[in-house]
Amino acid sequence: MPGIAVFGAQWGDEGKGRFVDFLASEADVVIRYQGGNNAGHTIIVDGVTYKLHLIPAGVLYNSKPCVIGNGVVIDPESLIEEMETLKKQGATLDNLMISDRAHMVMPYHRLLDSLSEDDAGEAMIGTTKRGIGPCYTDKAARQGLRMCDLLSDSFAEKLRVLLEQKNMILTKIYGGEPLDYAGMLEQFMGYKERLRQHICDTSLICYDFYKQGKKLLFEGAQGMLLDIDFGTYPYVTSSHPTSGGVSIGTGLPPAVLTDVVGVVKAYTTRVGKGPFVTELLDGTGDYIRERGQEYGTTTGRPRRCGWLDLVIVGFAARIGGITSIALSRMDTLGELDRVKVCVGYDIDGKVTKNYPASLDDIASAKPVYKEFDGWSGDISHIREYNGLPQSAKEYVEFIESETGVGVGMIGVGPERSECVLRRKYFV
Ligand code: GDP
Ligand code: IMO
Ligand code: MG
Repeated sequence: MPGIAVFGAQWGDEGKGRFVDFLASEADVVIRYQGGNNAGHTIIVDGVTYKLHLIPAGVLYNSKPCVIGNGVVIDPESLIEEMETLKKQGATLDNLMISDRAHMVMPYHRLLDSLSEDDAGEAMIGTTKRGIGPCYTDKAARQGLRMCDLLSDSFAEKLRVLLEQKNMILTKIYGGEPLDYAGMLEQFMGYKERLRQHICDTSLICYDFYKQGKKLLFEGAQGMLLDIDFGTYPYVTSSHPTSGGVSIGTGLPPAVLTDVVGVVKAYTTRVGKGPFVTELLDGTGDYIRERGQEYGTTTGRPRRCGWLDLVIVGFAARIGGITSIALSRMDTLGELDRVKVCVGYDIDGKVTKNYPASLDDIASAKPVYKEFDGWSGDISHIREYNGLPQSAKEYVEFIESETGVGVGMIGVGPERSECVLRRKYFV
């Protein structure tokens, strides 16, 4: 009964979408378990680019069952837009299943996300302004609206009561205009008709798949260091991107996972605010950003770039129980004379390999680097590990020895096929 989780081992945008898409060819079902349309997962097949935000990467395989689990927060407007775009790109969505327990991101969540960010000034988190934080806040406060509510006759009344409260906040605290109830209700009745055929008890369906021994693939969004418990709090998202989120976010037993793939970019990037020990604020950082076109899939913001930080990857390997690393962008890191990898943090003269909780400690940490020779030449056509330049292999093998985890897949370009596979999955 193979169950593979794929999650980001850094600050998101590691290349999860492309590796999930790669593994999805073998999977029977692909399941998202947390996050929302703050995610932007890019997949490139035969020169065509697909940008996924809520729909699992399995959608590019004709009619493969795809599940949006209960742990995901869904903005119905964004979901419908994504469905339309994918349809135009030739995808079939007849096997898309949406959990009836998933919470909805409401227009007031988006607005509150923007207002609180704008209001925070210097203290802003740098969110995607997709309403993710306010939606998970309402979920925890037991004031959320779920997909099953949308199908219920009581929706209109529930929305009326909640909107009245939100309008108080919007007008009294932020001095803004109230949102119109009738207009919003009509809008959501439209979403209901469009989505109702997809809404179901996905926990039950996933359990049936599990019992039948189907190959389950779980697609994480965001990354380890954005986890609300283990990330650089408060500069985090509001969900659990790590493999630990799979069980809660789908309703499947914790034992469902037989393999955990941690996706690691060959260097580090981050969007939004928060500490970043190996950040490069010099020409090398700019070189990586331009060579890798490191601009956000969801918001278009420039990504902050830095050297690979194995303190972070080691932390993700421990917390997430990573059994295999998928390493992306070895091609992007090419053409540099020397490359550095952080192997420890010097905090007040003491070197640690453990990622600290305190932002003060992280802010004062100085990276301890190990240097390597870079590699040059186009590596995007290479499919066999031994075909990689010697210095690139040394880099890969150092990651393995430091983390104690094998590197099973290596991205040498963004295309589906531009990947070196070193082991089998789903066996
Ligand atoms: P995700 O959010 O983790 O799915 O990652 P994103 O799609 O936001 O960002 C990853 C970016 O890197 C996308 O533009 C991918 O097309 C690209 N990418 C992924 N793997 C590789 C790789 O091995 N080489 C190169 N050049 N680009 C890659
Ligand atoms: P994928 O799945 C990178 C970041 C935001 C911000 C913080 C909180 O594509 O890897 P939020 O809108 O979630 O409240 O923002 O988290 N963030 C991401 N960064 N990739 C993502 O998703 C992200 N989703 C959220 O930039 O710093
Ligand atoms: Mg992304």
